[in-house]
Amino acid sequence: MINKGIVLSGGHGTRMSPLTKSVNKQLLPIYDKPIIYYSLSILMMAKIKDILIIVNKGQTKTYKKLLPNGKNLGIKIKYKEQPYPKGLPDAFILGKKFIGKNNVALILGDNFFYGNSLKRKLKNSNQLKNGAEIFLHKVKNPHLFGVAKTNSKNQILGIKEKPKKRYSNLAITGLYFFDSKVVELSKKLKPSTRGELEITDLLKMYLNKKELYATSTGKGTHWFDAGSIDDYYKTNKFVLSIQKKNKKKVACLEEIALKNKWISKKHINASIKFYGNCEYSKYLKKLI
Ligand code: TTP
Repeated sequence: MINKGIVLSGGHGTRMSPLTKSVNKQLLPIYDKPIIYYSLSILMMAKIKDILIIVNKGQTKTYKKLLPNGKNLGIKIKYKEQPYPKGLPDAFILGKKFIGKNNVALILGDNFFYGNSLKRKLKNSNQLKNGAEIFLHKVKNPHLFGVAKTNSKNQILGIKEKPKKRYSNLAITGLYFFDSKVVELSKKLKPSTRGELEITDLLKMYLNKKELYATSTGKGTHWFDAGSIDDYYKTNKFVLSIQKKNKKKVACLEEIALKNKWISKKHINASIKFYGNCEYSKYLKKLI
């Protein structure tokens, strides 16, 4: 079982400027929580307890105000600063020590997933032994994404970045599970013409070894990449409506930790003290 996960939470945030000029994108709110709560919640739902959050240079202090060490969540949070946004696979180079000889999950800090079957799928992917597994989501506009073609055994046959011609409508989302080879493979990558290490190039290395597998998010699962203004507001609207309808919060980290039996009443009380008198604390009070 994979117990290590990375949240990649830096980036330029160019598309959301000026909102992201002085605040990191992942610290902006989606309705009632910072964006990073949603991505972190996915790793916690996958039962991953050992977390590395990669942030931009100089941002650790700011992030620690929100997520100091994970104690109240029954998890371990460490930070690593990325000198500049060098590309997604840089996470594995920066995370070399953290990863060691273990398999590891990666989630992009601005990715949002919600759905009934998600928990089961995450549990399955967390059993990965060899190779890499990516989460695919059916989209109407595949030309805007990296996409993958699969066979009936969920093996990936090919991947293409923003295909102009019809190739596949399965977009590669920002959730990945890798075996420990990922560190060495990432080190072999060369920057692309846009000057970044590309996750597609890393996935192609696994593909060439026939070790790249797919999980489809499935019907009823929602995925948003909250990195553009439009999608950011779509995600906000979605969370607001789901929470109103279900009278339950999405990505309440303490609630997930409690369900995972990682924490007790004592920790929830500590969290309530930490957040202060707010609507989120009132929700926490109802959990115990
Ligand atoms: P992107 O959304 O591709 O890039 P960005 O956040 O810099 O935004 P923009 O394109 O508008 O400039 O990044 C995906 C996620 O990965 C996002 O959560 C930020 C994070 N990221 C890093 O932490 N380090 C990096 O080197 C890169 C490329 C992204």
